[in-house]
Amino acid sequence: MTCSYEQTLAHIRDTVPGRSPEEAVQVAMQAIQDRHPRYQWVGVYVLRGDVLELGPFVGKPTDHVRIPVGRGVCGTAVSERTNQVIQDVRAIENYLACSDTVRSEIVVLLWHEGQIVGQIDSDCDDPGAYSLEDETFLRGVAEVLAPLVAQL
Ligand code: SME
Repeated sequence: MTCSYEQTLAHIRDTVPGRSPEEAVQVAMQAIQDRHPRYQWVGVYVLRGDVLELGPFVGKPTDHVRIPVGRGVCGTAVSERTNQVIQDVRAIENYLACSDTVRSEIVVLLWHEGQIVGQIDSDCDDPGAYSLEDETFLRGVAEVLAPLVAQL
């Protein structure tokens, strides 16, 4: 199924009520991957102290289940307090590879009550897969999920 980002965001808003935080985040990740094929791996990292811990995700298992702040694209997003849209990860020195075939990565921070509580991360094997439109979409998803991730 392919849908517009607006439809997917509306679907995620509708599916959250009545679910546990863990289940709601898992269902949201699955909805993104099902509807938007470029989100080949998509998951949430939860920030605990100075470490990002892997939360619900869809895609192949990753070795990177704990990422210190400042390491990789994920840790850089937290240390620089900015979202990351990487067109080709081969150009990034501070990159933690999940797989040799990944080329694009996007990280959008989850803000709750003025604090970073985690992030949404996605990878794609195609270069240049993510744009400002994807960042805008994930910011919308992040608004819905941040209060839930704060409870994980
Ligand atoms: N590539 C990330 C690590 C997480 S995996 O992509 C799931 C990074 O450089 O931080």
